Amino acid sequence: KAVQPEDVVDPMLDRTDQQYLEYVRMAMEIPTCDGILLNIWEDLEPKTLEALRDEELLGQLCKAPVYPVGPLTRPPKPLDSRSGELFIWLDKQPSESVIYVSFGSGGTLSLEQTVELAWGLELSQQRFIWVVRSPSRKKGDGSFFSAGSGEASSMASCFPEGFLDRIQEVGLVIQDWAPQVDILNHPSVGGFISHCGWNSTLESITNGVPMIAWPLYSEQRMNAALLTEELGVAVRPSILASEGMVGREEIEMMIRKITVDKEATNIKNRVKKLKYSAAETISKGGSSHNALSLVAKQCALSWKSMELKAS
Ligand SMILES: *[C@@H]1O[C@H](CO)[C@@H](O)[C@H](O)[C@H]1NC(C)=O
Repeated sequence: KAVQPEDVVDPMLDRTDQQYLEYVRMAMEIPTCDGILLNIWEDLEPKTLEALRDEELLGQLCKAPVYPVGPLTRPPKPLDSRSGELFIWLDKQPSESVIYVSFGSGGTLSLEQTVELAWGLELSQQRFIWVVRSPSRKKGDGSFFSAGSGEASSMASCFPEGFLDRIQEVGLVIQDWAPQVDILNHPSVGGFISHCGWNSTLESITNGVPMIAWPLYSEQRMNAALLTEELGVAVRPSILASEGMVGREEIEMMIRKITVDKEATNIKNRVKKLKYSAAETISKGGSSHNALSLVAKQCALSWKSMELKAS
Protein backbone atom coordinates (compact mmCIF):
# COMPACT_ATOMS: atom_id res chain seq x y z
CA LYS A 1 0.00 0.00 0.00
CA ALA A 2 1.33 3.41 -0.94
CA VAL A 3 2.35 5.76 1.85
CA GLN A 4 -0.39 8.33 2.45
CA PRO A 5 0.52 12.03 2.66
CA GLU A 6 -0.93 12.37 6.16
CA ASP A 7 1.39 9.63 7.42
CA VAL A 8 4.72 11.12 6.37
CA VAL A 9 6.84 13.40 8.56
CA ASP A 10 5.57 16.98 8.67
CA PRO A 11 8.53 18.63 6.89
CA MET A 12 7.85 16.45 3.83
CA LEU A 13 4.48 18.13 3.32
CA ASP A 14 5.71 21.66 2.76
CA ARG A 15 8.26 22.10 0.01
CA THR A 16 8.87 25.70 0.94
CA ASP A 17 9.93 24.72 4.45
CA GLN A 18 13.67 24.79 5.23
CA GLN A 19 13.25 21.47 7.00
CA TYR A 20 11.99 19.92 3.78
CA LEU A 21 15.22 20.89 2.04
CA GLU A 22 17.23 19.45 4.92
CA TYR A 23 15.34 16.18 4.62
CA VAL A 24 16.00 15.98 0.90
CA ARG A 25 19.68 16.75 1.45
CA MET A 26 19.97 14.00 4.03
CA ALA A 27 18.12 11.55 1.80
CA MET A 28 20.52 12.31 -1.06
CA GLU A 29 23.54 11.75 1.17
CA ILE A 30 22.51 8.41 2.59
CA PRO A 31 23.10 6.41 -0.64
CA THR A 32 26.61 7.85 -1.00
CA CYS A 33 27.84 5.66 1.87
CA ASP A 34 29.28 2.16 1.44
CA GLY A 35 26.27 0.37 2.85
CA ILE A 36 23.04 0.97 4.71
CA LEU A 37 22.21 -0.99 7.86
CA LEU A 38 18.51 -1.11 8.65
CA ASN A 39 16.94 -2.07 11.97
CA ILE A 40 14.31 -4.21 10.22
CA TRP A 41 14.30 -7.72 8.77
CA GLU A 42 13.18 -9.31 5.51
CA ASP A 43 9.76 -10.53 6.71
CA LEU A 44 8.87 -7.27 8.45
CA GLU A 45 9.15 -4.94 5.46
CA PRO A 46 9.54 -7.03 2.31
CA LYS A 47 8.04 -4.35 0.09
CA THR A 48 10.29 -1.59 1.40
CA LEU A 49 13.33 -3.78 0.84
CA GLU A 50 12.17 -4.78 -2.61
CA ALA A 51 11.79 -1.11 -3.53
CA LEU A 52 15.21 -0.19 -2.12
CA ARG A 53 16.78 -2.98 -4.17
CA ASP A 54 14.80 -2.32 -7.35
CA GLU A 55 17.32 -1.53 -10.06
CA GLU A 56 14.90 0.34 -12.25
CA LEU A 57 13.06 2.18 -9.54
CA LEU A 58 15.87 3.18 -7.23
CA GLY A 59 18.99 1.58 -8.65
CA GLN A 60 20.18 4.92 -9.91
CA LEU A 61 19.43 6.64 -6.67
CA CYS A 62 20.42 4.06 -4.10
CA LYS A 63 23.60 2.35 -5.22
CA ALA A 64 24.66 1.46 -1.71
CA PRO A 65 23.89 -2.11 -0.65
CA VAL A 66 21.10 -2.39 1.92
CA TYR A 67 21.55 -4.71 4.89
CA PRO A 68 18.50 -5.46 7.05
CA VAL A 69 20.11 -6.54 10.34
CA GLY A 70 17.28 -6.11 12.86
CA PRO A 71 15.53 -6.39 15.13
CA LEU A 72 18.09 -4.79 17.44
CA THR A 73 16.33 -4.49 20.77
CA ARG A 74 17.17 -4.32 24.43
CA PRO A 75 16.99 -7.80 25.94
CA PRO A 76 14.60 -8.38 28.88
CA LYS A 77 15.88 -9.47 32.27
CA PRO A 78 15.25 -13.12 33.18
CA LEU A 79 11.69 -13.48 34.53
CA ASP A 80 12.77 -14.60 38.01
CA SER A 81 15.14 -11.67 38.51
CA ARG A 82 12.47 -8.99 38.04
CA SER A 83 11.52 -7.59 41.40
CA GLY A 84 9.35 -4.89 42.90
CA GLU A 85 5.69 -4.13 43.37
CA LEU A 86 5.05 -3.91 39.63
CA PHE A 87 6.17 -7.46 38.86
CA ILE A 88 4.57 -8.90 41.99
CA TRP A 89 1.31 -7.46 40.65
CA LEU A 90 1.93 -8.62 37.07
CA ASP A 91 2.71 -12.16 38.23
CA LYS A 92 -0.77 -12.35 39.75
CA GLN A 93 -2.67 -11.33 36.60
CA PRO A 94 -4.08 -13.78 34.04
CA SER A 95 -2.14 -14.52 30.88
CA GLU A 96 -2.22 -11.73 28.26
CA SER A 97 -4.76 -9.74 30.26
CA VAL A 98 -2.89 -6.48 30.88
CA ILE A 99 -2.70 -3.46 28.56
CA TYR A 100 0.55 -1.54 28.82
CA VAL A 101 0.22 2.19 28.09
CA SER A 102 3.23 4.39 27.37
CA PHE A 103 3.97 7.20 24.95
CA GLY A 104 7.74 6.98 25.15
CA SER A 105 10.35 9.18 26.71
CA GLY A 106 9.25 12.26 24.78
CA GLY A 107 5.49 11.90 24.63
CA THR A 108 2.98 13.72 26.74
CA LEU A 109 -0.77 14.01 26.25
CA SER A 110 -2.90 17.06 26.85
CA LEU A 111 -4.86 17.15 30.07
CA GLU A 112 -8.10 16.65 28.13
CA GLN A 113 -6.73 13.64 26.29
CA THR A 114 -5.39 12.15 29.53
CA VAL A 115 -8.89 12.29 30.99
CA GLU A 116 -10.40 10.60 27.90
CA LEU A 117 -7.77 7.89 28.01
CA ALA A 118 -8.48 7.27 31.68
CA TRP A 119 -12.18 6.87 30.88
CA GLY A 120 -11.40 4.64 27.90
CA LEU A 121 -9.25 2.34 30.01
CA GLU A 122 -11.89 2.15 32.71
CA LEU A 123 -14.73 1.51 30.25
CA SER A 124 -12.79 -1.28 28.54
CA GLN A 125 -12.81 -3.23 31.81
CA GLN A 126 -9.37 -4.59 31.03
CA ARG A 127 -6.38 -4.55 33.35
CA PHE A 128 -3.67 -1.99 32.63
CA ILE A 129 -0.31 -0.45 33.50
CA TRP A 130 -0.19 3.21 32.53
CA VAL A 131 3.03 5.20 32.46
CA VAL A 132 1.96 8.81 32.92
CA ARG A 133 4.33 11.66 32.31
CA SER A 134 3.58 14.66 34.39
CA PRO A 135 3.87 17.85 32.40
CA SER A 136 5.11 19.69 35.46
CA ARG A 137 8.18 17.56 36.15
CA LYS A 138 11.19 17.08 33.95
CA LYS A 139 12.73 13.94 35.37
CA GLY A 140 10.85 11.15 37.07
CA ASP A 141 11.68 8.52 39.63
CA GLY A 142 9.31 5.81 38.43
CA SER A 143 7.17 6.04 41.56
CA PHE A 144 3.58 4.85 41.74
CA PHE A 145 0.52 6.98 41.96
CA SER A 146 -1.92 5.85 44.54
CA ALA A 147 -4.96 7.49 45.97
CA GLY A 148 -4.12 9.64 48.94
CA SER A 149 -0.38 10.08 48.38
CA GLY A 150 0.97 13.59 48.12
CA GLU A 151 2.05 13.06 44.55
CA ALA A 152 -1.37 11.81 43.57
CA SER A 153 -3.16 14.77 45.05
CA SER A 154 -1.02 17.13 42.99
CA MET A 155 -1.75 15.06 39.90
CA ALA A 156 -5.31 14.09 40.78
CA SER A 157 -6.71 16.77 38.49
CA CYS A 158 -5.21 14.85 35.54
CA PHE A 159 -7.64 11.99 36.07
CA PRO A 160 -11.41 11.79 36.28
CA GLU A 161 -12.75 12.16 39.80
CA GLY A 162 -12.20 9.04 41.88
CA PHE A 163 -10.28 7.28 39.08
CA LEU A 164 -7.35 6.13 41.21
CA ASP A 165 -9.73 4.70 43.83
CA ARG A 166 -11.86 2.84 41.32
CA ILE A 167 -9.01 1.24 39.41
CA GLN A 168 -7.06 -0.04 42.42
CA GLU A 169 -7.85 -3.68 41.64
CA VAL A 170 -7.29 -3.55 37.88
CA GLY A 171 -4.72 -0.92 37.13
CA LEU A 172 -1.35 0.52 38.01
CA VAL A 173 -0.46 4.10 37.21
CA ILE A 174 3.28 4.74 37.19
CA GLN A 175 4.98 8.07 37.05
CA ASP A 176 7.27 8.90 34.14
CA TRP A 177 9.25 5.71 33.66
CA ALA A 178 8.81 1.94 33.69
CA PRO A 179 11.01 -1.04 32.71
CA GLN A 180 9.24 -1.36 29.36
CA VAL A 181 11.05 -4.35 27.85
CA ASP A 182 10.55 -6.42 31.00
CA ILE A 183 6.87 -5.48 31.08
CA LEU A 184 6.23 -6.27 27.39
CA ASN A 185 8.06 -9.57 27.83
CA HIS A 186 5.87 -10.58 30.78
CA PRO A 187 3.29 -13.30 29.98
CA SER A 188 0.48 -11.31 31.65
CA VAL A 189 0.76 -8.48 29.11
CA GLY A 190 -1.57 -8.69 26.11
CA GLY A 191 -1.60 -5.24 24.51
CA PHE A 192 0.37 -2.03 24.15
CA ILE A 193 -1.00 1.48 23.60
CA SER A 194 2.07 3.02 22.00
CA HIS A 195 3.33 6.16 20.33
CA CYS A 196 5.00 3.84 17.78
CA GLY A 197 8.57 4.97 18.24
CA TRP A 198 10.69 2.41 16.45
CA ASN A 199 12.21 0.92 19.64
CA SER A 200 8.77 0.49 21.18
CA THR A 201 7.43 -0.98 17.96
CA LEU A 202 10.19 -3.58 17.80
CA GLU A 203 9.94 -4.32 21.51
CA SER A 204 6.23 -4.99 21.14
CA ILE A 205 6.61 -7.19 18.06
CA THR A 206 9.53 -9.23 19.39
CA ASN A 207 7.43 -9.98 22.46
CA GLY A 208 4.33 -10.83 20.43
CA VAL A 209 2.21 -8.00 21.87
CA PRO A 210 -0.51 -6.45 19.65
CA MET A 211 -0.68 -2.66 19.61
CA ILE A 212 -2.96 0.33 19.59
CA ALA A 213 -1.01 2.72 17.40
CA TRP A 214 -1.13 6.24 18.82
CA PRO A 215 1.53 8.19 16.93
CA LEU A 216 2.45 11.63 18.24
CA TYR A 217 5.24 13.08 16.10
CA SER A 218 8.03 12.59 13.54
CA GLU A 219 8.03 9.27 11.69
CA GLN A 220 5.65 7.62 14.14
CA ARG A 221 2.66 8.04 11.81
CA MET A 222 4.46 6.03 9.13
CA ASN A 223 5.21 3.33 11.66
CA ALA A 224 1.55 3.32 12.68
CA ALA A 225 0.46 2.88 9.07
CA LEU A 226 2.88 -0.01 8.63
CA LEU A 227 1.63 -1.72 11.80
CA THR A 228 -2.06 -1.37 11.05
CA GLU A 229 -2.55 -1.43 7.27
CA GLU A 230 0.48 -3.40 6.18
CA LEU A 231 1.18 -5.88 8.97
CA GLY A 232 -2.20 -6.06 10.68
CA VAL A 233 -0.71 -6.26 14.17
CA ALA A 234 -2.28 -3.03 15.46
CA VAL A 235 -5.40 -0.88 15.32
CA ARG A 236 -5.39 2.90 15.28
CA PRO A 237 -7.81 5.74 15.95
CA SER A 238 -9.81 7.08 13.02
CA ILE A 239 -8.34 10.54 13.56
CA LEU A 240 -4.71 11.45 14.02
CA ALA A 241 -4.02 11.84 17.71
CA SER A 242 -1.82 14.81 16.84
CA GLU A 243 -4.75 16.60 15.23
CA GLY A 244 -7.65 16.04 17.55
CA MET A 245 -8.91 14.19 20.54
CA VAL A 246 -9.43 10.45 20.62
CA GLY A 247 -12.68 9.88 22.47
CA ARG A 248 -13.27 7.43 25.31
CA GLU A 249 -15.65 5.21 23.32
CA GLU A 250 -13.13 4.81 20.54
CA ILE A 251 -10.38 4.02 23.04
CA GLU A 252 -12.59 1.41 24.68
CA MET A 253 -13.42 -0.08 21.28
CA MET A 254 -9.77 -0.24 20.22
CA ILE A 255 -8.77 -1.97 23.46
CA ARG A 256 -11.50 -4.55 22.92
CA LYS A 257 -10.39 -5.05 19.32
CA ILE A 258 -6.93 -6.23 20.38
CA THR A 259 -8.02 -8.17 23.48
CA VAL A 260 -11.46 -9.75 23.60
CA ASP A 261 -13.24 -9.15 20.27
CA LYS A 262 -13.41 -11.83 17.61
CA GLU A 263 -10.87 -10.13 15.37
CA ALA A 264 -8.38 -9.97 18.26
CA THR A 265 -7.44 -13.59 17.59
CA ASN A 266 -6.26 -12.70 14.09
CA ILE A 267 -4.26 -9.71 15.29
CA LYS A 268 -2.67 -11.83 18.03
CA ASN A 269 -1.80 -14.59 15.59
CA ARG A 270 -0.17 -12.17 13.18
CA VAL A 271 2.00 -10.55 15.84
CA LYS A 272 3.03 -13.96 17.23
CA LYS A 273 4.05 -15.00 13.74
CA LEU A 274 6.24 -11.90 13.45
CA LYS A 275 7.69 -12.60 16.89
CA TYR A 276 8.89 -15.99 15.69
CA SER A 277 10.19 -14.60 12.42
CA ALA A 278 12.12 -11.97 14.43
CA ALA A 279 13.73 -14.67 16.58
CA GLU A 280 14.54 -16.72 13.50
CA THR A 281 16.09 -13.92 11.48
CA ILE A 282 18.73 -13.09 14.11
CA SER A 283 19.67 -16.69 14.84
CA LYS A 284 22.33 -18.58 12.91
CA GLY A 285 21.35 -18.97 9.26
CA GLY A 286 18.62 -16.31 9.51
CA SER A 287 18.56 -13.42 7.04
CA SER A 288 19.56 -10.65 9.49
CA HIS A 289 22.27 -12.86 10.95
CA ASN A 290 23.61 -13.49 7.46
CA ALA A 291 23.44 -9.81 6.52
CA LEU A 292 25.39 -8.74 9.60
CA SER A 293 27.95 -11.50 9.00
CA LEU A 294 28.38 -10.21 5.48
CA VAL A 295 28.96 -6.66 6.73
CA ALA A 296 31.54 -7.93 9.21
CA LYS A 297 33.30 -9.90 6.48
CA GLN A 298 33.41 -6.92 4.16
CA CYS A 299 34.73 -4.64 6.89
CA ALA A 300 37.47 -7.14 7.63
CA LEU A 301 38.39 -7.28 3.94
CA SER A 302 38.56 -3.53 3.52
CA TRP A 303 40.63 -3.13 6.67
CA LYS A 304 43.02 -5.73 5.30
CA SER A 305 43.36 -3.90 2.00
CA MET A 306 43.94 -0.64 3.85
CA GLU A 307 46.68 -2.32 5.84
CA LEU A 308 48.28 -3.61 2.66
CA LYS A 309 48.24 -0.18 1.11
CA ALA A 310 49.72 1.32 4.23
CA SER A 311 52.61 -1.15 4.41
C1 LIG B 1 16.54 2.69 21.23
O1 LIG B 1 17.19 1.55 21.75
C2 LIG B 1 18.60 1.57 21.67
C3 LIG B 1 19.12 0.25 22.25
O2 LIG B 1 18.59 -0.84 21.58
C4 LIG B 1 19.15 2.77 22.43
O3 LIG B 1 20.55 2.83 22.24
C5 LIG B 1 18.49 4.05 21.92
O4 LIG B 1 18.91 5.14 22.69
C6 LIG B 1 16.98 3.93 21.97
N1 LIG B 1 16.37 5.12 21.39
C7 LIG B 1 15.47 5.84 22.03
C8 LIG B 1 14.92 7.00 21.27
O5 LIG B 1 15.09 5.56 23.14
